[in-house]
Amino acid sequence: MISEKLATALNEQVNAELYSAYLYLSMASYFESLSLKGFAHWMHIQAREEQDHALKLYHYINERGGRANFNAIAAPPENWDSPLEVFEQVYQHEQVVTGLIHALVDLAFAEKDHAMYHFLQWYVAEQVEEEATADEIVQQVRMAGDSAAAILMLDRELGQRAK
Ligand SMILES: [Fe+2]
Ligand SMILES: [Fe+2]
Repeated sequence: MISEKLATALNEQVNAELYSAYLYLSMASYFESLSLKGFAHWMHIQAREEQDHALKLYHYINERGGRANFNAIAAPPENWDSPLEVFEQVYQHEQVVTGLIHALVDLAFAEKDHAMYHFLQWYVAEQVEEEATADEIVQQVRMAGDSAAAILMLDRELGQRAK
């Protein structure tokens, strides 16, 4: 059975993952307003991934005899100045999430909950991927600069993202 302290900490992460989904849906909607359907598609896939991250935690908390619960999700931002600014924020946000995951790992270790420590390693690896992907897209959007042709090419490429 998981301790109440650790269950509370994991529930806070459920909320953080759902906030990420909200943030990426808001970004998807922004891209749709610019008719950048490929960028929007990428964000929709990303939002679904975040919901999966939340659900994986939900199932784990319940499996360990805790109870997953749901707090209010903060409203995400709605406006950005450019696609570059959006992806810079994605990258920053994922770095914050990595910090949250690492704090959970530290807590599991301090509380000697080896099962939770092991469970969280999946998230540690996932955050490496999330940061690398976001950073790569930041670089590409930066290279595209003010070229509409380059942005449209990137839009087509991001539109290919598979689930
Ligand atoms: Fe996540
Ligand atoms: Fe991912």
